Amino acid sequence: MTGDVRMDHAAHPPTDDEEIQDWNGDCDEPMEVAAPLPAASEDSNRGIESRLESLQLETKATHVKDKVGVVPKEVEDLNDHEEDRKRHLNVVFIGHVDAGKSTTGGQILFLSGQVDDRTIQKYEKEAKDKSRESWYMAYIMDTSEEERVKGKTVEVGRAHFETENTRFTILDAPGHKSYVPNMISGASQADVGVLVISARKGEFETGYEKGGQTREHVQLAKTLGVSKLVVVVNKMDEPTVQWSRDRFDEIESKMTPFLKSSGYNVKKDVQFLPISGLAGINMKTRVDKSICSWWNGPCLFEVLDSVEVPLRDPKGPVRMPIIDKYKDMGTVVMGKIESGTIHEGDSLLVMPNKANVKVLSVQCDENKVKQAGPGENVRVKLAGVEEDDILAGFVLSSVANSVGAFSEFNAQLQILELLDNAILSAGYQAVLHIHAIVEECEITDLIEQIDLKKKKETDTKKKKQKRKPFFVKNGAVVLCRIQVTNLVCIENFSVFPQLGRFTLRSEGKTIAIGKVVELPQAGSSTFPAA
Ligand code: GTP
Ligand code: MG
Repeated sequence: MTGDVRMDHAAHPPTDDEEIQDWNGDCDEPMEVAAPLPAASEDSNRGIESRLESLQLETKATHVKDKVGVVPKEVEDLNDHEEDRKRHLNVVFIGHVDAGKSTTGGQILFLSGQVDDRTIQKYEKEAKDKSRESWYMAYIMDTSEEERVKGKTVEVGRAHFETENTRFTILDAPGHKSYVPNMISGASQADVGVLVISARKGEFETGYEKGGQTREHVQLAKTLGVSKLVVVVNKMDEPTVQWSRDRFDEIESKMTPFLKSSGYNVKKDVQFLPISGLAGINMKTRVDKSICSWWNGPCLFEVLDSVEVPLRDPKGPVRMPIIDKYKDMGTVVMGKIESGTIHEGDSLLVMPNKANVKVLSVQCDENKVKQAGPGENVRVKLAGVEEDDILAGFVLSSVANSVGAFSEFNAQLQILELLDNAILSAGYQAVLHIHAIVEECEITDLIEQIDLKKKKETDTKKKKQKRKPFFVKNGAVVLCRIQVTNLVCIENFSVFPQLGRFTLRSEGKTIAIGKVVELPQAGSSTFPAA
């Protein structure tokens, strides 16, 4: 993050958390920067047609809802003032249940003038009627009756706001463990995460302990490509906290080793700051010294405005994982462009079903545009494909250099926590989450156990030392082969991290994170038989 707003972090002794291996091992490598894809292989998917009849990728409801009521409606052609166009960033709000994600998101919209006082008063009354007085700010983001009654976000809320240099799409993820798949869908669209931590007595502890969502969300966010984290220590106004520096420092010092072990470079990629989402303090303007005398750092808007994210290639091949689709005088697909630029009139492919499509229009946020580049959340209206023939997890791709479709791949897997502390061996079944795909999978072969701490050594002696493990346990890093029933459009992590990082879940828990390290040859969806 930018030097002028960064705080220095004290060095903290490692804790037990450091036992979780630095799964990246190489987290200082520029993993997030998409490298150019290999040379064009128009027929890279030859031979898959026969498999298409059986192609029934489990549809993943995307659980993303627009905050329609709070988005400016005017439709403009942004290309008329292309030069003035601010950069665009997707920010996902993550963290344990009740940490204050929706409240902080709602407050951002209020502070940026998108919600008027009358609406707030209406929400205050509604919240009171539901015996949820303090939830009125969260109601800006939590729009469904279920969410308001329970005081819990279910679907990822989406809203927009701007700072001086940046247009933001906020994705407000649910914190409750039952909705982790929805959180994954939100995080997979974001470059920046706001990790909301409650400073209230007991709440930080519950969220951070094993089984709390703070850790799970951080690990998922890193795996899903959230390259920068703003850790907001929230509820600083709360009577048990009262803007206590000791509480803030305690949380920062406990979180830091864990963030490191999850692959974040804490000096470069993480910024801690104290806020009150409910009172809107240290958000749009810096906290007043009379409230918090010790904080000399930035406020939330400043931090977000200056976050630097890895550049993506606007001239690269088009890759847009489809997160949702609907009919609107044509077939409209939604998603985030991970690479390349989509123009009105372009001929593209929907993969893996190889449907040739034409782009009728492109919509960016609520605005119709002639083209949109990497990082943009878009709705693309297509001719040439029926809505029913598209499933979440399909990828809108350029025709030349199209994305491949595979039913097996080799992966480096870090085991986080197996159910009942069991072991993982060949035959293990789980649910694979990779970009917008949710798919049953089986680990068919354990190829090699990797010791990340001795990685360099192992690399040089690889051939000699290679031996297949029969099983692995929690914390292990293993090279393995994963098979899926239906074809998935994925990329090698080293070539295209956004489409090459994944999580494995089982019975509602994240059991492992991983990256794709080898794919079958172009033109084939499987590896040759051994
Ligand atoms: P989920 O969507 O269920 O994961 O929760 P969330 O993280 O979105 O939390 P939400 O915004 O719904 O807030 C939960 C509770 O914490 C509500 O009662 C809020 O009023 C309260 N809260 C949130 N931010 C603050 C804050 O800054 N100060 C105080 N005192 N309370 C807060
Ligand atoms: Mg919420």
